[in-house]
Amino acid sequence: MASLGVNIDHIANVREARKTIEPDPVPMALLAEIGGADGITVHLREDRRHIQDRDVRLLRETVHTKLNLEMAATKEMEKIALELRPDMVTLVPERRKEVTTEGGLNIESNNNRLKEIINNLQSNDIPVSLFIDPDRTQIEASSNIGALLIELHTGNYAEATTNEKLLELSRIQEATSIANNLGLRVNAGHGLTYQNVEPIARIIGIEELNIGHSIIARALSVGLTEAVREMRKLVSNPREKSF
Ligand code: PXP
Repeated sequence: MASLGVNIDHIANVREARKTIEPDPVPMALLAEIGGADGITVHLREDRRHIQDRDVRLLRETVHTKLNLEMAATKEMEKIALELRPDMVTLVPERRKEVTTEGGLNIESNNNRLKEIINNLQSNDIPVSLFIDPDRTQIEASSNIGALLIELHTGNYAEATTNEKLLELSRIQEATSIANNLGLRVNAGHGLTYQNVEPIARIIGIEELNIGHSIIARALSVGLTEAVREMRKLVSNPREKSF
C-alpha cells in the first residue's frame, strides 16, 4: 500500500501572487496531516517563486509526519538541506521559465555533481531520491550514483490519451520492478488526480505518491483536510479500473 505525500507549493503560489502573508502553507500542512497525509512535500526553488526559506524552517519544526524537500542539486540548496535536515531530499531539475517541473533529471549528464550531493546528504543521514522518467537508463544510472530512492515521473501517464494510458502505465510498472530489483526504493508523482491515481496506487513496489495540484484544487471546494482524506482513501484502497 502506497503512502501519500502532499505537495503544498500551490498554497504558497496563491500567497506569492499577492506577495502577502496568506494563505500560509505552514498551518495548512497541519490540516493535510489531519486529513491523513503521510508526509508533506515542498519545493524550495532557486527563484523562491512559491515556497520561501521561512516556510521550510517553520515546517521543519511543525510537520509531525515526514518532510520531503524537493530542490535542485545546487551548492546553495545542499547547504540549506544540511542545516534544515529534512526527512528526505528529492532532487529535481529546475528551469526558470517552466510553470512546473517538466521532466525527470538527466542523470548521466549531471553525474559528478549528483554523486557529490547524494554522498554529502546521505552521509549525514538524509536519504536522497532522484526524480526521473520511467526509463531503464535513468534508473540504472540512479543506482550507480548511489541514490537510495527514485521518484518516477508520472506526467506522461497523466497526460496520455485513453489509448496511450495502458502503455504509459506499463512503463511505470516495468520501471518500478527494474528499480526494485536494483535495490532502489520507488516513489512516484506528478500530474496525479482523483481520476487517474488508482492504477498507479495499485502498482506493487511503489512506496509513496507525491500529489499537489489536484488536492489543492479540490481543497477549494471541500477544504484541505477533506481533500486529503479523499485522496488518501483512493491511494490506500485503489479500485480496479479500466481505461
Ligand atoms: N513530484 C515532483 C518531483 C514534483 O516536482 C511535483 C510538482 O511540484 C509533484 C510531485 C506534484 O505534482 P502535481 O502538483 O502535479 O501533483
